[in-house]
Amino acid sequence: MKETVVSGIRPTGKLHLGNYFGAVKNFVKMQYDYNCYFFIADLHSLTTHPTPGDLHGYVKHVLVEYLACGINPEETTIYVQSDVPEVAELYLYLNMNAYLGELERSASFKDKIRSQSDNVNAGLLTYPTLMAADILIHKATKVPVGKDQEQHLEMTRTFGNRFNRLYNTDLFPESFAFNYSENLVKVPGLDGKGKMSKSSGEGSCIYLADSPEVIRKKVSRAVTDGGPTAENQPKPEAIQNLFDLMKIVSPADTMAHFDALYNKCEIRYGDFKKQLAEDMIIFNSPIREKIEELSKDTSYLRQVAKHGALKARESAQKTIKEARELIGFKSF
Ligand code: TYM
Repeated sequence: MKETVVSGIRPTGKLHLGNYFGAVKNFVKMQYDYNCYFFIADLHSLTTHPTPGDLHGYVKHVLVEYLACGINPEETTIYVQSDVPEVAELYLYLNMNAYLGELERSASFKDKIRSQSDNVNAGLLTYPTLMAADILIHKATKVPVGKDQEQHLEMTRTFGNRFNRLYNTDLFPESFAFNYSENLVKVPGLDGKGKMSKSSGEGSCIYLADSPEVIRKKVSRAVTDGGPTAENQPKPEAIQNLFDLMKIVSPADTMAHFDALYNKCEIRYGDFKKQLAEDMIIFNSPIREKIEELSKDTSYLRQVAKHGALKARESAQKTIKEARELIGFKSF
């Protein structure tokens, strides 16, 4: 029997290269070897965007982008999280045995306390139990995600194991963050610090839907410095980030060429950025074209989402039935 894989992305905007290389690239590769469930985490998006202007539009973006990247709905179950209410039910059960102290220690919760101090809601605190419900509802063992999600996976194991112990069962298997390359990926942004992320500003993200002109403009504005002053000196974060991006989108010899120039203090950042932008464009173009094509096909999108919801619910209902029996709910 094939191992089960689950992962999701929040519909808070268009997908960027971080989402692609951290997660979606693995979705595409895994779909033929595993029993895969890839969803659009619209319930999670409410924790940061409680009144989204166009929730359905954002969900559609992610659905289109999943398909444009090559996720095949014949092979894989693609669904919208809110179409599967069993997830919310399991979330409720898991919350009963998730402790305040452990939820407060989550790195993403601490980040959010800082970044949205005017809206520290219970959904933010219990974000990891909802994520655990997404994974446990299909009894997944592998979860393709970027490095930033590793702690959530650890918490998912804690909640699943705790349920098993409490109800004397082996209902939930342990699941682990997964990437085909050995290490989990962290794609840097163009702003000179940290990972590529919607919240660090539009200019720091390259979206899969970005046109060549937009990519050239964003990369030309990427943060650099005055250039190396000594041979073979270590690269500061902003420069290392651009090299890391080049490693992802460019051929190895291109990267080696610029690395050698940097080490000899002969690099010209203008040329380096031009090359990086062109290689991003080569990578993005086929996906962007498919995004444009698929966005127009509303009836196909509806069919994919409907079919996915049916398949996801079938699997989720089995697990919920077992969980209810174990907890002791009985109908009269
Ligand atoms: P989200 O929507 O923040 O990001 C979606 C996926 O993209 C990855 N990612 C990155 N990877 C590498 N470098 C980056 N700069 C980068 N930025 C984003 C994230 O690691 C993630 O895999 N909690 C999840 C959504 C979720 C989920 C789940 C995932 C909800 N339930 C169950 C897996 C299983 C999230 O916020 O992802």
